[in-house]
Amino acid sequence: MAAGVNAREAVREMRNVRQARLYEPTPVPDDILHELLEVARWTGSARNTQPWEFIVITDPEQLRKISEIRTPINWVAAVPLAIAIVLNGEDATTEAFDEGRVTERLLIAARLLGLGGGTAWFGDEAQRARAREILGIPADRAAHSVVALGYPTTTKDHRPNPAAGGRKPLAELVSENRLGKRRG
Ligand SMILES: Cc1cc2nc3c(=O)[nH]c(=O)nc-3n(C[C@H](O)[C@H](O)[C@H](O)COP(=O)(O)O)c2cc1C
Repeated sequence: MAAGVNAREAVREMRNVRQARLYEPTPVPDDILHELLEVARWTGSARNTQPWEFIVITDPEQLRKISEIRTPINWVAAVPLAIAIVLNGEDATTEAFDEGRVTERLLIAARLLGLGGGTAWFGDEAQRARAREILGIPADRAAHSVVALGYPTTTKDHRPNPAAGGRKPLAELVSENRLGKRRG
């Protein structure tokens, strides 16, 4: 652990990472954006293929178009910034894992830097094709989502059909040595 960082506080912050969908209009400062992009760049990937490029989206028109791809991501219209993750499109299985890793690191880093973030998924193949069209991504590359970033006003799911909050208890999640053998 780097000197000066309180490990327990950092871990507690990781645990408190929530999906943010509504943000202040305040832009993400350039130095913070740079820090977050470095975190993305240094994320580990299968065989260190680094199968990604990142599109920083701040143009309200682009954000509006993305928000219209699918109703559950309509809040993207009002975010100050989103990063689209563009994958090589060579190995869907490992790239899905890599995409999850980079997304989560961005969300955690944003939280530690006093911001918040949220993932927004484009949806099915037709909706992903529309996202590729908006973002100028060729058909042989893959893109499933953007990570929105900014200063959240809430982490409450404001959508008409909100996802359930909270988490299952550890007692339901953890086995010992074989699946289903509950701990003590
Ligand atoms: C694969 C995946 C797709 C998601 N897609 C959306 C989405 O399209 N729109 C949205 O608002 N949230 C989306 N989310 C965020 C989830 O709703 C969120 O992670 C979950 O409800 C837990 O939120 P919490 O950490 O704030 O409790 C997605 C999350 C994942 C992992």
